[in-house]
Amino acid sequence: MEQRIDKLLAEVEAFVGTTAEEVEAFRVRILGRKGELNDILEAFKSVPSEQKRVLGQKINALKMRAQSRIDEAKALLGVSQSSSASVSDMTRTGSEQPLGSRHPISIMRREIIEIFARLGFVVAEGPEIEDDWHVFSALNFADEHPARDMQDTFFIEQKPEVLLRTHTSSVQVRVMESHKPPIRVICPGRVFRNEAISYRSHCIFHQIEGLYIDKDVSFADLKQTLLYFAKEFFGEQTQIRLRPSYFPFTEPSAEMDVSCSLCGGKGCPVCKGTGWLEVMGCGMVDPAVLKSCGIDPDVYSGFAFGMGIERSAMMRFGVKDIRLYFENDTRFLEQFESA
Ligand code: PHE
Repeated sequence: MEQRIDKLLAEVEAFVGTTAEEVEAFRVRILGRKGELNDILEAFKSVPSEQKRVLGQKINALKMRAQSRIDEAKALLGVSQSSSASVSDMTRTGSEQPLGSRHPISIMRREIIEIFARLGFVVAEGPEIEDDWHVFSALNFADEHPARDMQDTFFIEQKPEVLLRTHTSSVQVRVMESHKPPIRVICPGRVFRNEAISYRSHCIFHQIEGLYIDKDVSFADLKQTLLYFAKEFFGEQTQIRLRPSYFPFTEPSAEMDVSCSLCGGKGCPVCKGTGWLEVMGCGMVDPAVLKSCGIDPDVYSGFAFGMGIERSAMMRFGVKDIRLYFENDTRFLEQFESA
């Protein structure tokens, strides 16, 4: 039996196949179901057990050698190999690894950060699990303010209060507490609100907030900064308008609208016929907030603004249901810019 194996091995080593048919015929003769190797394996059953180990190893070596010789012969002929042979030809092209695509929220976040980076803003980040001080108290929310209510905030613990941040303004508090002005930061992050999930709103979404504090910062600086952003982000022809509003942490406060980029301000279904789209809240940082965070309001002033990323991304990409951003369905995701 040993001789038979050696003879077959020599034959395998000497094999040259000039056509695909020849290689296939050889494969069938050696490795096929009724081939020589199976014949040997059949005879192997009746080999005395003390010889089994040595002979078994030889048979295995023969089998592997035969397989790789056949694969080599196929490769030389340009016939595709079986996958078990992939190591035998190091020059073969590798299989393609599909690249993922960027999430639309990441695309928007990166773009917004880049625009503000040109104005000297740097990114600051903070924890998603916060305390009452950083989300509410330091930001001048009165004790009975409705935003503290269970309807809005996800509380993790009641006493002392541990909660999921409802806005990224908490990061601004942390920056003001730990840095001396001038401060120029942009704070992107996930926020959480206990809202009913629908095509328009979700209990998780993303915000980007900005904060600028220095000596003599005025409302005119805020307006110019936001105009620059709007033109860079929505297009050169974009106009802005500021409507009076209220936030506990800014005074005066405003909502910024941009002229509808779809109809150019004439009025369409997207802007509900008004020609304007609401984009963000903003205002001059309330002196009480500066004081809470250890900054002297008699020396410094500043502005802050904040926007939701999902809303802008829905406008930009024509996405009609906010829930799509969180489902991670690859059929949705792969439509966006590749990584
Ligand atoms: N924090 C506000 C919100 O979540 C947005 C905002 C930020 C408004 C900064 C004014 C200034 O709606």
